[in-house]
Formats: sequence, structure tokens, C-alpha cells
Amino acid sequence: MKLYKANIIFTREKDRFEVVENGYVGVENGRVVDVASSADVFGQQVEEVIDYGDRLLIPAMNDMHVHAGQYRNQGISMDLALLEWLNNYTFPEEAKYSDTRYARRMYSRFVHDLWRYGTMRTATFATTHLESTRLLMELFREAGMGALVGKVNMDRNSIDALLETVDEAEAANEALIAEWNDPDSLVRPILTPRFIPSCSPAMLRACGEQAQKYQVPVQSHLSENLGEIALVRELEPESRFYGDAYDRYGLFGQTPTIMAHCVFSEGEELELMSRRNVMVAHCPTSNINLITGIAPIRAFLDKGIKVGLGSDISGGHDLSIMRVMVYVIQVSKLYYQKFKDKRFLSLSEVFWIATKSAGSFFGRVGSFEPGYEFDALVIDDSDLNHGNYTLPQRLERFIYIGDDRHIAVRFCRGQEIPEPRILD
Ligand code: GUN
Ligand code: FE
Repeated sequence: MKLYKANIIFTREKDRFEVVENGYVGVENGRVVDVASSADVFGQQVEEVIDYGDRLLIPAMNDMHVHAGQYRNQGISMDLALLEWLNNYTFPEEAKYSDTRYARRMYSRFVHDLWRYGTMRTATFATTHLESTRLLMELFREAGMGALVGKVNMDRNSIDALLETVDEAEAANEALIAEWNDPDSLVRPILTPRFIPSCSPAMLRACGEQAQKYQVPVQSHLSENLGEIALVRELEPESRFYGDAYDRYGLFGQTPTIMAHCVFSEGEELELMSRRNVMVAHCPTSNINLITGIAPIRAFLDKGIKVGLGSDISGGHDLSIMRVMVYVIQVSKLYYQKFKDKRFLSLSEVFWIATKSAGSFFGRVGSFEPGYEFDALVIDDSDLNHGNYTLPQRLERFIYIGDDRHIAVRFCRGQEIPEPRILD
């Protein structure tokens, strides 16, 4: 067993931080044995004590919704709402990933920058292209970082270069599942029908059947934009609400499911999400940039719906989940101010959402409780810590005004993760 000594901060429950000043985390076989304020409790099994002095030790970040195939467009083209934005900027960019050289260039930078910001687990969309998707999975494996990677499926309402037939989609999904669906692997496939407007009933049915047959998780988009919701109502007239359309095809919690956005989810849709344990990927930067709205996160929490955070590059502009956390708090304050019905989110709630709640999608990830995989960040905030701050205040300052330069060491599943290579 190894012991890591530092100022330890994590969450067990959403309403408070667990803080152990100058404490120890015991780690064996990639998992946390326990957290304690004295090394004695770990007995004779200790091989090594690694002392991080006055630094903070926190769980690593999880990004539950991001488009690797949109990485070049990060920080540009944010003058349109969703459907026009997809047609004008996003689909033409994703079409470039038929070229694996281009994919290598962009995807190696994407994986590198996730590392930079301390995101050790990711649920990501690639593009419709099988070869580039394989490449992205290889890059994650080489980096030692956890990822659920989705080859995007779509067969309608896009440009020809991105459309595939249902047979092609099924064959490509099956190939990735055969190659990558090892339960112990950090990198695994996730079925990714883009959203209802992009997928015919036959495509949705095929994805649902593959999810069940191979027990693979599912990710997609739900109730993001009013124009999109109106379109889904036309395309799926039998469905009572948007989530019901996914449900009819076996894509709504029949296997573990992440739905991004859910800005306009309410009523029956919330009931079904709760019953089916569908996780919401909350992406406030995207919801601001694409003029979408504010998701009612407090209502989700009240209903026991699981929530994680997503950067949603390139609808979102910021890959740092720390900075996304700040946006989450800020938009929840705007929501509170406008609707006066619910309390805004606290720092411990948002930290819990980003770490333990999101991490639950990957297994026991996102906390330092016994048995959790040791995904962690060592934070050197010495240049921010000049005011006699408490440990929770030091964490708050790091989240609000810190950046990647304060992340000194990163761990995923107990392994220290070195800087990934950037390729050309
Ligand atoms: N809905 C369908 N595709 C996308 C996408 O690429 N980004 C966002 N934000 N929403 C989508
Ligand atoms: Fe998205």
C-alpha cells in the first residue's frame, strides 16, 4: 500500500465537504483503502509514504459530455442557436475526420488538454468515422485516462459526408464493441445516436438493440432547444415527450444512459428520468453560448436524478470542469433570481456533482471513500494562499480563480498520469 499525505478534501454527500488536514489516503491496487489523520491506522502494509506537504489532494474531474470531433471549433462560431449552428459550423468540421491524419492532430491535442485540466474520465462523442474513433480510443489508452468513447450514429438531417446507413452504423458499432468492450478497460465504447433529429426510427431501434445485446451504455442529447423539441414532436408524433421517444427504442436507461442538457425537461420526462436512472450532463457554458436557457438542476436533485457536468466543447468553450463549476453556480443564481422558487447551488453541491455524482457512471469513482478508484489531483495553490484561508476556502479560490498551472500531479485509477504526447 502507498500513502499519500496532503490536505485532503472530497465529498461523501452533497451538502458538505470532508476535510482532513495533513491527512493520509491509503491506496492499494488502484483503490482507496481509507482516509485517516494518522498513518498508524494503515499498520504494517505501508510500502511508501509520498508527502505532498501543504498541497491539497482532491478527486479528479469527470467530463460527462464533450465532442472531441469539435475541438478545432472551441472558442469560435458562437453566433447561432443549436440547429443553425450544427448545419453551418459543426457538421462541416466533423466531416474532416474522414482524414485520420487530421484526427490524430486534433485528438492528441484534445486528450492532452483534458489531462491539463485534470479531467481523468470523459464521456465523449467522436464523429461518425470508425477509423478516427479507434484512434481517439487508442490515444486515451496510451494516456492511461478513462473514457467512454462514442462513434456518432446518424442517418438523416445532416450533410452527405456524415450520413451512414443503418447497416454501416451497426457494423461499425459492433467492431468497436468487439475490440474494446472489456469490463476492466479504462477506455470503452458507448452507443451514441446523436439525437432524434439525426436518427431514423430504424437507426434508433438498431442502437437500442445493440445496447441491450452487448450491455453497452448510451449517450445522446435531450430537450436542449425549443426548435429541436418542436422538430422531435413532428418526427416522432407517437411519443408523449422527447425522452419517451428514446425510451420506445430502448435508449432511456435500459442500459446506463447519459442525456446532455435537459434544459426543458419537466413533468413526465423528469419522472421517467428518475425511474430509469438517466444521468443528466449539465453543460451551462454551451447553454449560454447557443442561447439555449438554464437547466433546472435543483429540480433534478430534488427528484433524485443523477447529474454530472459537461464542457460540451464546442457548444461550450471551456474544457476546464473547474471553470464549468463556477458557471454552474452562477447560472443557478440567475435561475433563482428569475424564478424565485428554488435555492441556488452551493460549492459543495457542485463539487459533489462534478466528482462523486458524475463519477458513479464509471463505477466507484469521484470520492476517497474506501473502495473508490484513486482518481486524484494534487493542487499547489501556494501563490493563491496568502490570506490565512481555511481549507474549504483554499479549494474555493482554486476553483474560482485557479487554473491548470495549479494542478501539480494527476492520478487515474491509482497511476500517476504523465503529460500525453501532442502529435502532428
Ligand atoms: N445536439 C445534437 N448534436 C449536438 C452537438 O453537437 N452539440 C450540442 N450542443 N447539441 C447537439
Ligand atoms: Fe453536445
